[in-house]
Amino acid sequence: MGSHLCDRLLGDGCSVIAVDNLLTGRLSNLDHLRNDSRFEFRQLDVCEPFDCGPVDAVFHLASPASPVDYSVHGIPTLKVGSLGTFQSLEVARKYGARYLLASTSECYGDPLEHPQKETYWGHVNPVGPRSVYDEAKRFAEAATMAYLRYHSVDTHIVRIFNTYGPRMQINDGRVIPNFMRQAMRGEDLTVYGEGSQTRSFCYVSDEIEGILRLSKSTEHLPVNVGNPTEFTILECAQRVLAVTGSKSKVRYEPLPQDDPKQRRPDISKAKRLLDWEPKIDLETGLKMSLEYFRQAVAEETSSRA
Ligand SMILES: NC(=O)c1ccc[n+]([C@@H]2O[C@H](COP(=O)([O-])OP(=O)(O)OC[C@H]3O[C@@H](n4cnc5c(N)ncnc54)[C@H](O)[C@@H]3O)[C@@H](O)[C@H]2O)c1
Repeated sequence: MGSHLCDRLLGDGCSVIAVDNLLTGRLSNLDHLRNDSRFEFRQLDVCEPFDCGPVDAVFHLASPASPVDYSVHGIPTLKVGSLGTFQSLEVARKYGARYLLASTSECYGDPLEHPQKETYWGHVNPVGPRSVYDEAKRFAEAATMAYLRYHSVDTHIVRIFNTYGPRMQINDGRVIPNFMRQAMRGEDLTVYGEGSQTRSFCYVSDEIEGILRLSKSTEHLPVNVGNPTEFTILECAQRVLAVTGSKSKVRYEPLPQDDPKQRRPDISKAKRLLDWEPKIDLETGLKMSLEYFRQAVAEETSSRA
């Protein structure tokens, strides 16, 4: 998502310094910006103090984001949500910059309220396998609110719901890359449980638009930014099969622990405050991502040969 944010900010006329330790990200996602004099990349860990000089805005998106990544990198996930949030808040505080925290729908856990409004406090298992991510983000929200209250930093918190599009890793276990890769390789699509659990998928350009609007708004409490159209995982698999033209079948596997059964944002707050709503439906977004996934799967296949 960070590379898309860089594209958009440069497109809007800004200069951008991207900071990443490449724990789960790839530099190749920024290859196309290498010759842009307004763009700079610095490889560093945001859990350590850092200073890129005066900036107008800080967007803290650093964190392993997929269940595969945060289960492999559990402790770095806790650190980047806590120490990384403090260090990036310090940069915003030092330069009087706007600050946006990329939080998550995972703050709602396996929700007992549906759809999820920002006022819902969530139903999170604090000691389960997903807690390294969920609780790190909940802590990051608390730290961000504290910098607003104690240091008057102009902070914003976006709760992102499943976002997809080009440049995603194809093997990090997230639903859409997983299905795309399996469909393109002619493998069975893996559905956990009965596939009746729901998710709502937001195309990346819609998400970035919402994030930018929020960062310039006067709202400091969390705002959901996601696509409210809800699909069962089985319906999502069917859409992927239709868009890719694949003849793959569906294979069922046991549901992982604490897997949320329902996920759908209530976006009335984003509509009201930001005049934002997503424009790209799942089928269109999948078609727009097709070429990227085809190429990524082909590269993976040739590198294995
Ligand atoms: N994509 C989604 O569906 C989604 C949903 C909810 C929230 N989010 C949040 O949005 C943000 C971006 O997610 P994404 O999907 O682009 O994931 P991503 O893995 O592609 O990007 C996260 C980036 O953070 C970097 N990073 C991790 N730890 C770091 C550290 N200590 N210092 C510097 N860089 C570090 C990684 O190398 C990676 O490039 C994350 O904070 C994630 O939690 C994403």
